[in-house]
Amino acid sequence: MKDILQELQNRRDVAHMGGGQRRIDAQHGKGKLTARERISLLLDEGSFEEFDTFVAHRCTDFGMQDQRPPGDGVVTGWGTINGRMVYVFSQDFTVFGGSLSETHAQKICKIMDMAMQNGAPVIGLNDSGGARIQEGVASLAGYAEVFQRNIMASGVVPQISVIMGPCAGGAVYSPAMTDFIFMVKDSSYMFVTGPDVVKTVTNEVVTAEELGGASTHTKKSSVADAAFENDVEALAEVRRLVDLLPLNNRSKPPVRPFFDDPGRIEESLDTLIPDNANTPYDMKELITKLADEGDFYEIQEDFAKNILTGFIRLEGSTVGVVANQPMVLAGCLDIDSSRKAARFVRFCDAFEIPILTLVDVPGFLPGTSQEYGGVIKHGAKLLFAYGEATVPKVTVITRKAYGGAYDVMASKHLRGDFNYAWPTAEIAVMGAKGATEIIHRGKSADEIAELTTEYEDRFANPFVAAEKGFIDEVIMPQSTRKRVCRAFASLRGKSVQNPWKKHDNIPL
Ligand code: HXC
Repeated sequence: MKDILQELQNRRDVAHMGGGQRRIDAQHGKGKLTARERISLLLDEGSFEEFDTFVAHRCTDFGMQDQRPPGDGVVTGWGTINGRMVYVFSQDFTVFGGSLSETHAQKICKIMDMAMQNGAPVIGLNDSGGARIQEGVASLAGYAEVFQRNIMASGVVPQISVIMGPCAGGAVYSPAMTDFIFMVKDSSYMFVTGPDVVKTVTNEVVTAEELGGASTHTKKSSVADAAFENDVEALAEVRRLVDLLPLNNRSKPPVRPFFDDPGRIEESLDTLIPDNANTPYDMKELITKLADEGDFYEIQEDFAKNILTGFIRLEGSTVGVVANQPMVLAGCLDIDSSRKAARFVRFCDAFEIPILTLVDVPGFLPGTSQEYGGVIKHGAKLLFAYGEATVPKVTVITRKAYGGAYDVMASKHLRGDFNYAWPTAEIAVMGAKGATEIIHRGKSADEIAELTTEYEDRFANPFVAAEKGFIDEVIMPQSTRKRVCRAFASLRGKSVQNPWKKHDNIPL
């Protein structure tokens, strides 16, 4: 009996060594942790339950029958993050470069199926050379099996990808279909075709880092939602994110203990809006002053900075925040900000996370580059996302809410539940000067100035909209946290159904 137990232990020891000490050292030498070290940092201590430790590939080409390391380049299983269940796969770069074989894919598919069945998030730690070259089409089939599950799991359980090494070829499409993608600076990259192919086809000379590093994907392409200094920080941030999310689309987001008075008055907010309507101010200040303990988990911080997206807690419950940022492009909506916010709104709606919208928007950014780039369709994404969302929606207009952008930003007309405005709000078709110049074309500069003042007095306030009931109440800035907390509290039982349909046709 003792021998049998020892045999199991020996086999486990072999499996835990992955591709061997030399390759583990090489992994550490690149500043990267191993697949198992990553799992132990991600999950609560001692909570990991592994599946398929002894699965080995079935390939017999290229002498592969002589190299069959147990586990086949991916560690899979489940465990807990602060006591809540998650499923995880972690690719082991020390085994055939973490490349994906038929059996490697089957291991990932197994935990994805279980995650969907049991209603828990899937976290993928990606570190892979892509398709296992020795396996050919069997590997491609494996990828497609994973893709199909990503699609089926979308909107059912949260899916989080962490890119912690190379991620090339078709391998990028599985992360691309997950809800959040995190990268590690200087050690991870994602691209469909690598620098060598790029050079052959287009003659462009580009490094892997320039083509698909963390900076590229967080600042230019928006493929990734955040980038972190190293593996340890990235995994700690995944834990923080999971703490904010519901486990699946049938359960509510977790409610954490909170030590911040929901009725807290913030007198400094009464002076947040500058006297001059064209002077910017930092919308993040409002977000952190509203949030429990000032904690704001920002998503896509480095992309389309004219809109802010992320999570806060109010009375311990997760709330998604979308806010125009007057510090960048005066808070205009454009192609990138519309896409960024629309995807965030849809995530919140899919997982029953209430949405707080903070509005200071002078309109859509004008110009040929925007029109040629399809701002009509991209702007419509955000409009569509807000309009279809059935979660509790609370909106606060702090200053400008002009034109179509007023409608888009969770207005009353898109089923906003509570639409508040500060006394500094200006809700109008457009800015006073532009409006006056159009209505009174041909008048002298002095006359225009006088008429602009008249227009401002008449329209640059929240009361015209409030008279019509489009604004539910004009509130004191200092009491915003209290009003917003009470609004969301009153909406906890909200139930709204959209008409039956197979699915909608959001302008993609
Ligand atoms: C099998 C692979 C592999 C792969 C790497 N290895 N990639 N084995 N299939 N795809 C092995 C190497 O042979 C090596 O084995 C070990 O992993 C480490 O690789 P190195 O090259 O030594 O590491 P490094 O210098 O860090 O380079 C990493 C790399 C490079 C950039 C990922 O290995 C690489 O370019 N690999 C090929 C990438 C690729 O073209 N993949 C196919 C993409 S097409 P030893 O035994 O020496 O440790 C694709 C299609 C999917 O993925 C489509 C789905 C729809």
